[in-house]
Amino acid sequence: MKKNRPAFSEEVMEQNCCILGIESSCDDTSAAVLRDGVLLSNVIASQEVHRKYGGVVPELASRAHQQNIVPVVDAALREAGISRKDISAVAFTRGPGLMGSLLVGTSFAKGFALATGCRMIDVNHLQAHVLANFVHTAAEDRPLPPLPFLCLLVSGGHTQIIAVRAPLEMEILGQTIDDAAGEAFDKCAKVMGLGYPGGPVIDRYAASGDIRKYQFSRPHVPDLDYSFSGLKTSFLYFLRDAMKEDPDFIEPHLPDLCASLQHTIVSILLDKLKLAVRQTGIKAVALAGGVAANSYLRRETEALGNRLGWQVFLPAPRYTTDNAAMIAMVGYYKYLAGEFAAQDIAPLARMEF
Ligand code: KG4
Ligand code: ZN
Repeated sequence: MKKNRPAFSEEVMEQNCCILGIESSCDDTSAAVLRDGVLLSNVIASQEVHRKYGGVVPELASRAHQQNIVPVVDAALREAGISRKDISAVAFTRGPGLMGSLLVGTSFAKGFALATGCRMIDVNHLQAHVLANFVHTAAEDRPLPPLPFLCLLVSGGHTQIIAVRAPLEMEILGQTIDDAAGEAFDKCAKVMGLGYPGGPVIDRYAASGDIRKYQFSRPHVPDLDYSFSGLKTSFLYFLRDAMKEDPDFIEPHLPDLCASLQHTIVSILLDKLKLAVRQTGIKAVALAGGVAANSYLRRETEALGNRLGWQVFLPAPRYTTDNAAMIAMVGYYKYLAGEFAAQDIAPLARMEF
């Protein structure tokens, strides 16, 4: 296992390859600078405006991106100590995501490339979440996953088990047939009145709750696929019945409700991950996506790995939620592979690998 260097890059290591990454797929505007695979800066402007609506409002998101993008890019370049003319390529999220939000980042990248003469690289947001596992600064000395590895990608929109055979060669082994794990967190948080995004709030309340206090329904989906819509409904019905008896049921029971719900979601995720390891024989396992910031999922994955002899890789939470460092990381590998985009490229709201 190598340290502090993205896997399999040394044969083609190019000196002074500077990638400017741009992320604008949902409600975070982010820019990052990566030099020769090492992160120099990663600036994220989160949009608070959506909180009061209980979810992301697409129109407001694109307007906020439009306001944030120039200052965020300026800050990322300044923090990295890199000038615009030193950028070799601008890598931007092409999709999947909200069309209006994606258009801001894509258009910015086109303008930047035209103005500076640098190359453009289109990036799949999901592939970027996976490669967040390779993101590191010069000071971050942590082991990087060997190839091949399995990645459990759990975000607000996706839940997938992916076999990563090379940085740009990924295969989806299983995925959710309805809601994503992040959606399950967010929707259940909403019915408890915990606001948006609910995942981090549930994580906090769960810390002092009993994971076995309540039982919620578990899906019966074959192979490596997931389902979370049944759990959401069972949680909703449970609360509805409990509140018939006691209208103030939620507040005093929040820690136990959150701990039991979180335990159910994490057990569903890890049961299929265990199956994927058994089926593929790949024992290097990584987490990715916003839900990978969940403290219980991280702890349980590590504990499982210790028991079953896996190598477990947990990216720092700042690289698991939406950020441009991961976009720049895909950009770096595509740069080395000579995969560039042209000025007529358009964003895609839906996009597979
Ligand atoms: O990857 P991400 O930032 O955006 C998407 O591409 O979807 O993921 C956002 C999701 C939200 O559903 C949010 O509730 C969840 O990640 N999340 C968490 C935690 N932090 C973020 N879920 C559970 N526990 C957390 N600590
Ligand atoms: Zn994301």
